[in-house]
Amino acid sequence: MNAPPVLEIEDLKFEILISEKDLQNRLRELAGQISRDYDGEVPIMIGVLNGAVLFMADLIRYLSIDCEMDFIKISSYGNKRVSSGEITMVKDFSADLHSRHVIVVEDIVDSGLSAQYLKRRVQSMKPASVKFVSLLTKTDSLKVDVDIDYVGFEIDNKFVVGYGLDYKQQKRNVNAIYQLVQGS
Ligand code: IMP
Ligand code: MG
Repeated sequence: MNAPPVLEIEDLKFEILISEKDLQNRLRELAGQISRDYDGEVPIMIGVLNGAVLFMADLIRYLSIDCEMDFIKISSYGNKRVSSGEITMVKDFSADLHSRHVIVVEDIVDSGLSAQYLKRRVQSMKPASVKFVSLLTKTDSLKVDVDIDYVGFEIDNKFVVGYGLDYKQQKRNVNAIYQLVQGS
């Protein structure tokens, strides 16, 4: 969906934070970096459902190397705007990750608890390597020590929607990222 200047969900207002053009330009840069780092390899990209679907679909089209893809679904947020901190597995990946180069693709890393959980799950399959790419990270919000190898944009610690990210499952299909207008 084309990106309007303002989004409304129930009584909340969201304003544009990252435009479609800026998103796509940054994705091309990230894909270039990943293609160089994995030159000669065929990594498996594991997308974290549902939020990372749009990001992953666009990112892999900019790669100049081959890759495979699979998905995992975990839940930590429910319908709230703050993480419950409790991670549950909703759908596991099915690819054989043993001795493979794995890149976990996240929409946003906030507390880092999901990333920590995912890292442990992937590492239990004894891959050759595990790296993380996240479209967004929030400044000063990490509660655990996790390294995100490729970061699209570091943003302020505010709630965002669009381009895969949702509030109550809405606004995932908008081509830009929006941040909550405080007090709305
Ligand atoms: P973490 O476990 O706290 O790092 O949260 C990671 C997950 O929470 C992300 O993959 C998102 O699905 C969700 N999340 C975190 N911040 C936001 C946000 O600002 N908007 C929408 N979803 C978010
Ligand atoms: Mg997510």
